[in-house]
Amino acid sequence: MTKSSFHRLLRIVAIVGATGLTTSAFAQASPEMLANTCAGCHGPDGSSTGPATPTIASLSVDYFVLSMKDYKSGKRPSTVMGRIAKGYSDDDIAAMAKHFQTKPFQRPGQKVDADKAKAGKALAKKYCESCHEDEGKVGEGVGVLAGQMLPYLLYSIDDFLDGKREPEKRQKVKFDALVKEQGGRGAFEPIVHYYAGVK
Ligand code: HEC
Ligand code: HEC
Repeated sequence: MTKSSFHRLLRIVAIVGATGLTTSAFAQASPEMLANTCAGCHGPDGSSTGPATPTIASLSVDYFVLSMKDYKSGKRPSTVMGRIAKGYSDDDIAAMAKHFQTKPFQRPGQKVDADKAKAGKALAKKYCESCHEDEGKVGEGVGVLAGQMLPYLLYSIDDFLDGKREPEKRQKVKFDALVKEQGGRGAFEPIVHYYAGVK
């Protein structure tokens, strides 16, 4: 484990310790019962307050199911979700996906750097908006970026850039172009301030 992923894990373990959470799944449980297990980390209705934990409320069913499948198989890297996802059947996952899709994505507004957010908005328009529509609020087949936790967004982008998480082909083209044309990986930072700050 690298130093940064260890640091990332520590932030999550602190949350688990604080909530005394267990991750056991029960057969035949209702979607609400299943979702309760997720609440300790992802917030009661899937809107997170932990920096390294994403909000899962309102995610599209397709994206939610794909994420869980990829965590289960190890295709998508994770600190804790790989282990958690293995505890659920395809039916459980589909039920939870439908449950969380109906919940609103709460955006209390994170502190972001206003100048960076402004620069990020222009970059996002050119490099991201074609797929992450409506300020990143539309998550059909992609993650919701608008109001997502800032550290989580940075970790996710690192995973794509480091080749740990496989980007979609056209997404990779945009990522490569951004890095090449806008002065390297640092160009993602203003974009992240922009998306995290969307209300
Ligand atoms: C121990 C804390 C914890 C628990 C419990 C937990 N998660 Fe997660 N979840 C995370 C973290 C942290 C991530 C980011 C990936 C990682 O590092 O594992 C994540 C990521 C996700 C994502 C990806 C979201 C995105 O935008 O791509 C989904 C979907 C998800 N979790 C669903 C669930 C579901 C469903 C449950 C309950 C069955 C659950 N999680 C329980 C901590 C948790
Ligand atoms: C061609 C379409 C496309 C473009 C352009 C695109 N993305 Fe994405 N993005 C996706 C898809 C598809 C996923 C889901 C990948 C997966 O998990 O399989 C995604 C996922 C993400 C995630 C992870 C979300 C989560 O909850 O884990 C982040 C962060 C992200 N994109 C940021 C960006 C940024 C920043 C840009 C612009 C520089 C961008 N994307 C441009 C298609 C795109």
